[in-house]
Amino acid sequence: MQEENGKKSAPTKPKDRFRFSSERGRADLNPYVDRIGEHGKLVLTAEKAEQQRGQWRSLLGRSEACPLLLEIGPGNGFFFAELIARFPAAALLAVEIRFKRVWLTADKAKRTKLDNFRVIHHHSGYLDLLFEPGELDAVFINHPDPWPKERHHKHRLLQKSFAEQLATQLRPQGEVWIKSDFDPYGPLAREVFSASPWHEIAYTEDLHGAGSQLLKKAPAKSRFWCADSETNYERKSRKKGARITVAGYRRLPPSGADEAHQTGAER
Ligand SMILES: C[S@@+](CC[C@H](N)C(=O)[O-])C[C@H]1O[C@@H](n2cnc3c(N)ncnc32)[C@H](O)[C@@H]1O
Repeated sequence: MQEENGKKSAPTKPKDRFRFSSERGRADLNPYVDRIGEHGKLVLTAEKAEQQRGQWRSLLGRSEACPLLLEIGPGNGFFFAELIARFPAAALLAVEIRFKRVWLTADKAKRTKLDNFRVIHHHSGYLDLLFEPGELDAVFINHPDPWPKERHHKHRLLQKSFAEQLATQLRPQGEVWIKSDFDPYGPLAREVFSASPWHEIAYTEDLHGAGSQLLKKAPAKSRFWCADSETNYERKSRKKGARITVAGYRRLPPSGADEAHQTGAER
């Protein structure tokens, strides 16, 4: 949240912006609209999640110093469950748009026997309603939908406006990690995250080939790298022979941004 004269500012809610709501789910058409309730407090509807903006760490019993990690589009939840196990001291959230995948992700996450997480039914275009500026430490985006047809490109998650949104929601030194088996998404990630305040900390278009050093060693100073955790989509597409792209970016503090971009440090 922006600090203005010591007061916290409210998120903007433009009047013409479509309001995402879990209440629009049709239980007569999709049983998971009701079934997400089976996971109790571990799953939050969009409406309930928005009420937690700025309070995620305290909801999850963590101090303000502890990292808050977000996965967008967890799908079946295999990677999210690994994240929880890998960072048991952190607070973890997953934002997923489809009811069934919300249920599946919570189901996998529950098996860790930890409760420092929540799975949120929401749309990734509304991060400003879920998080105060600077609230997040890392965001993971694994295999975002490709939308290959040109007329559908506007639906792609990787857009300049999305990178600007993340630059607001992430703390300085926060990290964004992207994985994809869709070849155009590597260059697109580079384009979208090319401007300040972003600094590229890792990039390969072939994680299991030329870029396999990333599987053995984290890039310098990366706190949240976990490229060696395979996602469900990744496993399936690797079986079909696809190459996996990984792109990692750090949100630089304002004063260090230009210098790091000029030196190309850590590439
Ligand atoms: C191709 S699947 C990848 C699933 C998983 N990350 C993996 O790698 O196995 C993309 C996921 O993103 C979710 N998704 C698509 N658009 C979304 C949005 N705007 N907000 C949140 N989740 C979204 C889909 O429902 C789906 O679960």
